[in-house]
Amino acid sequence: MWFLWFVGAIFLIKAIGKLRAGRCYEKTVMRGKVVVVTGASGGIGFETALELARRGAKVIVACRNDARGERAVRTISRLTRNERVRYVHLDLSSLRSVRKFVEELEATEAKLDVLINNAGALCASRRRTDDGLMNDMQINHFGPFLLTTLLVPLLKKAAPSRVVLVSSAWHRFGTIENLNDESTGYIRAYANSKLCNVLFSKELARRLRGTGVVVNSLNPGQVNTSLYRSSTLLEKLRTLVLYFFFKTPAEGAQTSVYLAISNDCDVATGMYFEDCKQVAPSAKAENGMLATKLWAISEQLVGLKPEEVIEEPKRISVSEN
Ligand SMILES: NC(=O)c1ccc[n+]([C@@H]2O[C@H](COP(=O)([O-])OP(=O)(O)OC[C@H]3O[C@@H](n4cnc5c(N)ncnc54)[C@H](OP(=O)(O)O)[C@@H]3O)[C@@H](O)[C@H]2O)c1
Repeated sequence: MWFLWFVGAIFLIKAIGKLRAGRCYEKTVMRGKVVVVTGASGGIGFETALELARRGAKVIVACRNDARGERAVRTISRLTRNERVRYVHLDLSSLRSVRKFVEELEATEAKLDVLINNAGALCASRRRTDDGLMNDMQINHFGPFLLTTLLVPLLKKAAPSRVVLVSSAWHRFGTIENLNDESTGYIRAYANSKLCNVLFSKELARRLRGTGVVVNSLNPGQVNTSLYRSSTLLEKLRTLVLYFFFKTPAEGAQTSVYLAISNDCDVATGMYFEDCKQVAPSAKAENGMLATKLWAISEQLVGLKPEEVIEEPKRISVSEN
């Protein structure tokens, strides 16, 4: 008898989860729009790219594994009959690869309408990359920081255009102290990187105000993807727990799609979303001083050239009023 109660409870939880998961009901067509989705070889990124291709966008699948990236392109093209889907190699754990990706995009695209910074990793084995940064921090924050900054000129050419950063509820446990420190545990480092996503989106939104480029971040919720594959502890619980309690990747992609296409988000900028609704992030993520500090650290660590810097908007002093 207890077994029937158990199964019933599981299905009830799953049904409630399905009802509560936000959905993007917008009918927006994306024909003529150019979209980059990082980490679109699987999980949330793949479903995001699939949905945007279905709506007619030219989609650039940007990830590090050529075989997986090209397979994703073939699958998306086949399922959507959209031939304007292509793969471009991007390894966010290499600053050189990020610069090469941007050069290729500048050479082939006249503009960029939507950039979705989706790629991310939870790295159980933390190590330094060739750039001297910690691998998880570089994949989740420093790489996307450089990528986005360098793509701003192309985004401005498409204005009104959008930048989306896929953060996580884990940002609430993050800090920006000692970001590049080897002694930080991998779950703490992941939380730090996700706080960086929200702070970066707010500061970029502030710096781009008035340019027609809007920037927002989101939490996709708990989603059944391979994100946890490198975590031995979580891996053990994965199969059972993920299926019953987590969203499917298609459900997890809804807020990314919403921020990329919704008319509601034409002017919303510097905001944080969950289940296709704007919500408040943590108090730390709202702290403008932290966002400015993170920007300075990031600019220095990724080696931004003076001509690539996005200037801070002039603060209006009392005497100027
Ligand atoms: N799943 C969740 O419950 C959850 C919750 C909150 C937030 N998120 C966030 O959602 C985003 C997508 O995660 P997911 O759950 O869909 O995970 P996933 O299935 O593991 O997908 C991650 C994607 O990022 C790519 N990637 C990893 N390292 C990369 C690198 N160095 N350069 C370029 N691409 C790289 C992966 O490519 P490969 O195929 O080469 O590995 C893959 O395409 C992440 O930012 C994650 O932090 C997920």
